[in-house]
Amino acid sequence: MRKIHLLPLVLLFLFAFTQACQQAPQETYEPEWLGETKQEIINTIEDQFQGFSRTMVEVGYRYQELYWAGIDENWEYAEYQREHIEEAMEQGFIRRPAREASSQQFISVALPEMEEIIRNRDKDAFLQNFTRFTASCNTCHAMEDVAFMIVKVPEKRYSVIHY
Ligand code: HEC
Repeated sequence: MRKIHLLPLVLLFLFAFTQACQQAPQETYEPEWLGETKQEIINTIEDQFQGFSRTMVEVGYRYQELYWAGIDENWEYAEYQREHIEEAMEQGFIRRPAREASSQQFISVALPEMEEIIRNRDKDAFLQNFTRFTASCNTCHAMEDVAFMIVKVPEKRYSVIHY
């Protein structure tokens, strides 16, 4: 029986394979408004993410939703909003690390306290605590030189979510 020489076949296959890989079409990207160079594109994306005010607009909304969720005793929704406030703040600190120090009280006291109250489904404690929670927002505002931005417990409901 004729002996098949495998080595040349394997080498040939490997050669063909690497050639095919090199010739595979490169994924191209045609920037529209992001910029031309890689640096320009990255800068535009960073600008579009915006700074801490974007975070705060989100936190302001979620803070109000959290309040009405507590009034409704819709504890699942309350925890959902509390958690998303935490997430939004954490993402904000990635963009603006200098803001993090002033938020210590809010992150390590106000948010965990609120989490426990929600877990206990305790409306009285929620209402009592909400003023302190709000004060914690304002403490950070004072520390960050935006004391003129005074957060107040909501009086009017704009939420589309009702229990
Ligand atoms: C890091 C500490 C910090 C904490 C904690 C904090 N804020 Fe702020 N907040 C800021 C800063 C700083 C600004 C101004 C943002 C800027 O100038 O880019 C701001 C601005 C705002 C604004 C105005 C946003 C706008 O541009 O229209 C709202 C609303 C707001 N905060 C709500 C809240 C609420 C509600 C809480 C608590 C649940 C809270 N903030 C907690 C630092 C904080």
